[in-house]
Amino acid sequence: MTASFVRNAWYAACWASDLGSDKPHAKTILGEPVVLWRDKSGAPVALEDRCCHRHLPLSLGRVTGNTLQCGYHGLEFNALGRCVSVPGQSRVPPNATIQSYPVCQRHALIWIWCGDPSQADANDIPDLFWLDHPDWTQTGGHLHMRADYRLLIDNLLDLTHVSYIHKNTIAGDPKEALVPVKTTREGDCIRVERWMLGFTAPPMYNKARRFDGPVDRWQLIKWQAPSIVTLDIGCADAGTGAPEGDRSQGISMWSNHIITPETETTTHYLWAFARNYKLEDASVSKVLAKGGMQTFMEDVVVLERQQAALEEVGERPVVDINIDNAPLQFRNTLENLIAAENVGSDC
Ligand code: FES
Ligand SMILES: [Fe+2]
Repeated sequence: MTASFVRNAWYAACWASDLGSDKPHAKTILGEPVVLWRDKSGAPVALEDRCCHRHLPLSLGRVTGNTLQCGYHGLEFNALGRCVSVPGQSRVPPNATIQSYPVCQRHALIWIWCGDPSQADANDIPDLFWLDHPDWTQTGGHLHMRADYRLLIDNLLDLTHVSYIHKNTIAGDPKEALVPVKTTREGDCIRVERWMLGFTAPPMYNKARRFDGPVDRWQLIKWQAPSIVTLDIGCADAGTGAPEGDRSQGISMWSNHIITPETETTTHYLWAFARNYKLEDASVSKVLAKGGMQTFMEDVVVLERQQAALEEVGERPVVDINIDNAPLQFRNTLENLIAAENVGSDC
């Protein structure tokens, strides 16, 4: 079977706030069992979740300062995956090692690199600065999805599904569906953009900042390989220059979809809104948290059913329509990246 993952890339393992200082955290990422923990300084560590002695998952053990101790016979492993202590004997077998992964905490997330460690460069971590910047307030969560991560990216690159899947949550003015989208590709990035000029502000924006007249509204989607989708959304008083870059008469929000394949057919879905208005208003955060979870669950329910249906029909071909432009470009870009990675490899 052709691999569906790019390996040489940073993926979000979890929210930084979900990785405590005392307990190991187990997670399967790209099909590999991983254990995450923090050393004494609070720095995150990621190791193979398998003891080299008798293969017990190390996530069942405990953090002992700068080592992770196996819960079966007490072998201790450092951040590099080397066993540094074997109870009852002074000699540590030289081959007592397990895999360690490059890992980095940034933008409120723990990022992990499952590919060739020599290629891991923290400068390549996607810039999601609004997730921990004082000018922005964040509301988020995580979902687990029993579906291929690529189905979720297809979904996020297609705005038309909102009218159907989200008819009970975020679907807005039916006129929206008639506004054309612009799709562009820059390297390993796909953008889908839609401007709605002179529209009525949707209720969510009106609650946040009262708009008395028509607004110019934007939905600017960006997929960054392999699996980050961000939506720059908001609106401003019509005619005040938002399309040209002046958003001072409006409000903005980033809708972040941070997607990590768990296996070929299951996905870790971290999501967050970051907003630049009513920063201290807990009631706005509450509405967004509830609305976000409800809306994204609507997608998850559909995508899980789609996954099951795809498994039933096997290789039977699908039919493409105009709205598939961006998803098809995404699939094509991803396949090229995977193929380039596998050139010369055995898999
Ligand atoms: S299985 Fe881990 S110490 Fe024995
Ligand atoms: Fe959706």
